[in-house]
Amino acid sequence: MLKIEELTVKVQDKVIIDNLSLEINDGEIVALMGPNGIGKSTICKVIMGDPNYQVVSGSITYNGGNLLAMDVVKRSHKGIYLVSQSPMEIEGVTNAEMLRCALECKTGTRTNFFEFNKKITTICDKLDIPKSFIHRGVNEGMSGGEKKKNELLQLYVLEPKFIILDELDSGLDVDSLKVLSLALKEYMSDDVSILIITHHISIFKYLTPNIVHIIKQGNIIKSGDFNLALDVEKKGFSAYEVGENKNHE
Ligand SMILES: Nc1ncnc2c1ncn2[C@@H]1O[C@H](COP(=O)(O)OP(=O)(O)OP(=O)(O)O)[C@@H](O)[C@H]1O
Ligand SMILES: [Mg+2]
Repeated sequence: MLKIEELTVKVQDKVIIDNLSLEINDGEIVALMGPNGIGKSTICKVIMGDPNYQVVSGSITYNGGNLLAMDVVKRSHKGIYLVSQSPMEIEGVTNAEMLRCALECKTGTRTNFFEFNKKITTICDKLDIPKSFIHRGVNEGMSGGEKKKNELLQLYVLEPKFIILDELDSGLDVDSLKVLSLALKEYMSDDVSILIITHHISIFKYLTPNIVHIIKQGNIIKSGDFNLALDVEKKGFSAYEVGENKNHE
């Protein structure tokens, strides 16, 4: 589904991602773990098309197309969705207004008010989200965990195919993490893929990754199965050195 090849990214003239390659196939859950400030969110923003991140070289292919040539709107219409590490607040625009507009823009047809209402209400019930969220400003005044829930509400309405979870688990209480992760597990199918970025292994209980990658100094230095994540939890990132075998274990 998504293929990153030899990607180098600069932020304000500093190289953050250095010649990184990463592939995520249809129906796969891939995890990316690494120390703070190493470039995990940078990768997410480059995939989504944030203009603050300068792609110096390399390519990203999405379902065979050149992702880097697409603007943010096109990427979103093609089914890419980022659950942001720090979701932004949009004052004065309610979830309902934003989502109806996004849906109409995506499908090119007007949404039926009653059907839309029914859909969003059902999603709130499923995700254990108060219905008052529907008419609240997008992430406005919400707590850290509430913002993450609200990101999932938006995801369920827009039905993306490639989902990036940039620390979905940070800020969520244990029960909410379980509800949201299990909802995502149910959402998974052969043509949906998830990239999970996390510092903790709890989310893997519900969304078990096919592959775990460790990123350090701008590149993937080790890849393995779920056991690699367990090892990281035990030993910490300092146990993994740049230059280690990059092959999957
Ligand atoms: N817009 C920006 N302006 C300046 N520096 C930036 C910007 N975005 C990222 N950086 C820098 O790039 C580096 C990588 O940041 P990034 O947010 O990708 O880290 P991360 O791996 O997601 O860390 P964390 O685990 O703490 O979320 C950091 O040193 C950060 O300060
Ligand atoms: Mg980050």
